[in-house]
Amino acid sequence: MNVLLLGSGGREHAIAWKIAQSPLLSKLFVAPGNPGTAAFATNLNCSLADFAAIGTLTLTHQIDLIIVGPEVPLVEGLADYFYSEENLKHVRFLGPDKHAAQLEGSKDFAKQFMHRHGVPTARYATFTSETIEEGLTYLETLEAPYVLKADGLAAGKGVLILDTLGEAQESLKTLLGGQFGASSARVVIEEFLTGIELSVFALTDGKDYVLLPEAKDYKRIGEGDTGLNTGGMGAVSPVPFADDAFMTKVIDRIVKPTMTGIHAEGMRYTGFVFFGLINVKGEPFVIEYNCRMGDPETEVVMPRVASDILPLLNAAASGKLAGMHLEKDARAACTVMLVAGGYPEDYRKGDVITGINEVNGSMVFHAGTALVEGNIVTNGGRVMAITSYGNDIHDALRVSYENAQKIEWKDKYYRRDLGKDL
Ligand SMILES: Nc1ncnc2c1ncn2[C@@H]1O[C@H](COP(=O)(O)OP(=O)(O)OP(=O)(O)O)[C@@H](O)[C@H]1O
Ligand SMILES: [Mg+2]
Repeated sequence: MNVLLLGSGGREHAIAWKIAQSPLLSKLFVAPGNPGTAAFATNLNCSLADFAAIGTLTLTHQIDLIIVGPEVPLVEGLADYFYSEENLKHVRFLGPDKHAAQLEGSKDFAKQFMHRHGVPTARYATFTSETIEEGLTYLETLEAPYVLKADGLAAGKGVLILDTLGEAQESLKTLLGGQFGASSARVVIEEFLTGIELSVFALTDGKDYVLLPEAKDYKRIGEGDTGLNTGGMGAVSPVPFADDAFMTKVIDRIVKPTMTGIHAEGMRYTGFVFFGLINVKGEPFVIEYNCRMGDPETEVVMPRVASDILPLLNAAASGKLAGMHLEKDARAACTVMLVAGGYPEDYRKGDVITGINEVNGSMVFHAGTALVEGNIVTNGGRVMAITSYGNDIHDALRVSYENAQKIEWKDKYYRRDLGKDL
């Protein structure tokens, strides 16, 4: 089977690494990929916004299965393009169509869906510039802190949490005034939930599903969960508080009703459903859905999948997941993200990275690197994820931290406190 995976981050490196182990695989292509994926797959240069170019690559390389890593092409309708083009219809496509991808692409759509299917989530209301006065009044009915969300995709920056009513009201005006363009033409205001977050992932064909290992990521740049939000500074799996009793609630109250809803509404949904959850005194609530895997969660989830992943991905894309199972690796896995100094604010690119070959007992997933004149250099804020196995998450983290010291570039930074909250 020839496979084309779309994306270029640590998530895609980890998915590619797992697919590459499958005896079913003939050739693996990654577009655009990164220097990490180039080590064992063929990188193809392509913009993910250029659907026609992706279609051409698919035909040129006789792709049987296409897997989409990031959300933007899905929300913009790449699946619909493949389903509608006569010469691409035969390709198995893993990723929801434009309508189904609204579960991530529109916070209001997702909230309405949860409401229709009885999925527990924070109370909310949605406002536009026409109903801004109602929005300001609605905020008065809530208690601090206040949660405001741009309805559409905003590159992870569209959620604001404000401490005072005055700030929340000002932010509502700014958002509806066009802070994120069309993405904030509608704003969802939510009740604030207090608890600890985790991520649960399902792979679905639109009807049946298998659960992947759960994970917890670390979003803030600073130790002790302080400072600005990032794309993710590390992740651990399993999540100690996600015991059998808690996971049974997650499956019964959240995963099953979501899957039943997707099927009952006739959504064309193949691929990953990412449940962003919060544990409120032992009860799970949905914070958000994403229509793809998380990054860096994938860098711990893929290593904990013991089964060959390719038959599962292929079955999900073909509507044939019924009766299939996913075996988990009993070991824990953790990843530590090494980032460029200054990230998530301004940071440099192009610094030479050394010491990758000295890493021992960990996997190095490239997130933001480039190959320039024979050197691997930094090429993004999040540069590489160091994943290790262990008997438990602390054991795994110890190995990642040992290896994190061996990789060097100017102003490298990473959080040294991962797992200490668990
Ligand atoms: N109702 C809520 N109560 C408490 N915290 C919340 C709530 N909604 C969101 N948050 C916090 O804000 C973060 C971002 O919210 P959300 O996941 O909806 O945004 P997002 O931009 O889609 O995130 P991502 O980039 O991970 O997809 C959450 O991880 C959580 O920490
Ligand atoms: Mg999201």
